[in-house]
Amino acid sequence: MALSSQIARFFRHFAAGPPPNSGPERVARTLTGTSLIHSHTKVRHRSSSVPDNPVDSATDPAPVMKQHHKARCSVYPRSQVSRYPVPDEKVSWSVPYPEYAPVDFTSDSVLKMPPWADVDFRVAQTNGDSSKNIEQPQWNQLDGKVNRRSHMGNYEVVDNVPRNPVGRTGVCGRGCLGRWGPNHAADPIVTRWKRNEKGEMVVDENHKLVAQFIAVQRRDNGQWALPGGMVDAGEVVTMTLRREFGEEALNSLEANEQEKKQIEASINDLFAHGQEVYRGYVDDPRNTDNAWMETVAMNFHDSDGKGVGRFNLHAGDDAVGVQWMDLSHRLELYASHIDFLQTTAEKLGASW
Ligand code: BGC
Repeated sequence: MALSSQIARFFRHFAAGPPPNSGPERVARTLTGTSLIHSHTKVRHRSSSVPDNPVDSATDPAPVMKQHHKARCSVYPRSQVSRYPVPDEKVSWSVPYPEYAPVDFTSDSVLKMPPWADVDFRVAQTNGDSSKNIEQPQWNQLDGKVNRRSHMGNYEVVDNVPRNPVGRTGVCGRGCLGRWGPNHAADPIVTRWKRNEKGEMVVDENHKLVAQFIAVQRRDNGQWALPGGMVDAGEVVTMTLRREFGEEALNSLEANEQEKKQIEASINDLFAHGQEVYRGYVDDPRNTDNAWMETVAMNFHDSDGKGVGRFNLHAGDDAVGVQWMDLSHRLELYASHIDFLQTTAEKLGASW
């Protein structure tokens, strides 16, 4: 099997299988569609490489996003729960909304208490269940191995539960998020310059170079996204980025030892020189009043296209779910990923 298709296989394996009714045609439609996801917040720009554990070493809190939209989507993902309507002007907790009655929803998969989820200490406390020795989480701190700190500084804790720093969402509880308060993710933005068949770099109508990034299709909703993932308890963000991008998947790759080494070397090389593009709140459809997504997004640019950039990922007959996509304002992507890519394009001086 050619190396490029092996790479495609391992991305498909780790990234998420394609959902029904998704295929290359759908991708094409997405890419040529004209509706934009509006950017409501300016993403941060850091000029130096990120330290090994950005969560621990961050000194200045990230700015809080002013508004969220996807976090108020009418039906909560993977459920039939309708959010209590929150108009734009009532998002902020500082604006009174006396009739506000958010739906209390925590999914069964979270209530089963898998290792990535907190105990529902509210229920345990109400039941007077002392046998489980339930302790109140240490908000705004590193709580054992669980990082309950926000990139945006201290969040409020009201009635014993953290309060979404951006505002109301129409749902309280944790929805399908495991942690009360911040749920930390990391997003690698792997880029290269687009080249034509002759290997020449492609420019747009304004003579700006066109950059491409690796996109994957999410299993839960079919949307295209960065190949990010959750930071495990006790894990540093750089590890998550690397792991999510391929280390685990590499184990399942049907490549011979030499090929594996080649791929691994390219990834190691690239991941040694990342630039932070964003850290903070993500406007994610899973957010609730008491649990929300935060991320650190980092750009890894293969400037000469000789490392990871030489792998030609392409959608196969069965909709591979991983591909190089052109950076463009026309993209429709999961959560706030378009904002991270806009900053990446600015940073690279690429076409947008
Ligand atoms: C995804 C990340 C995303 C984060 C917030 C995680 O589940 O893997 O790519 O940035 O959620 O939306």
